[in-house]
Amino acid sequence: MENNTAISSDEQRYQVRKLEITDKNKGFMELLQQLTVCDSITDEEFQKRFEELQSYGDDHVICVIEDVHLSKIVATGSVFVEKKFIRNCGKVGHIEDVVVDSSVRGMKLGKKVAGFLVDHARLTGCYKVILDCSDDNKAFYERCGFKQKEIQMVKYFI
Ligand SMILES: CC(C)(COP(=O)(O)OP(=O)(O)OC[C@H]1O[C@@H](n2cnc3c(N)ncnc32)[C@H](O)[C@@H]1OP(=O)(O)O)[C@@H](O)C(=O)NCCC(=O)NCCS
Repeated sequence: MENNTAISSDEQRYQVRKLEITDKNKGFMELLQQLTVCDSITDEEFQKRFEELQSYGDDHVICVIEDVHLSKIVATGSVFVEKKFIRNCGKVGHIEDVVVDSSVRGMKLGKKVAGFLVDHARLTGCYKVILDCSDDNKAFYERCGFKQKEIQMVKYFI
């Protein structure tokens, strides 16, 4: 019983939803800085990119988890739906930029974000969903139902 109460209060506290424009004021960019190089941007730059991504509708979705007690974004991840000619004009989901705030790692919030993104890919008709990750994160994604396949190649321009 005590355990159930803890689970439901966590569910109320950590709300899973799509990115909103006001999330810039709730630490969204600072969270991304825990993932990779991510310089600060102006409110205008944020708004422009936000509106551009929103215009893609279901083809580009950013999931966030807000700690509503702190009004702080503590987890995020995105999925992009790629439209193909192969596989009967099939679609592939690409998961990117999954990160959980260091203060709340290990609380299954990463798994919740991955689950939200995977569900989105499945519900929008993708035949598969893929992502790249480091060796360190392989076990995490396996816990989220992924398996390793092939290798990643990359060419950086900067
Ligand atoms: C990787 C990351 C997103 C995991 O988020 P998290 O909220 O701490 O993970 P969860 O609590 O949801 O863990 C889910 C499961 O994965 C396991 N897991 C999580 N991180 C793990 C790790 N590094 N190694 C092994 N297992 C791991 C958990 O034990 C849990 O297993 P269970 O379901 O059997 O209990 C988080 O550590 C992070 O943000 N890291 C830095 C950014 C990063 O590397 N992002 C990934 C980019 S590809």
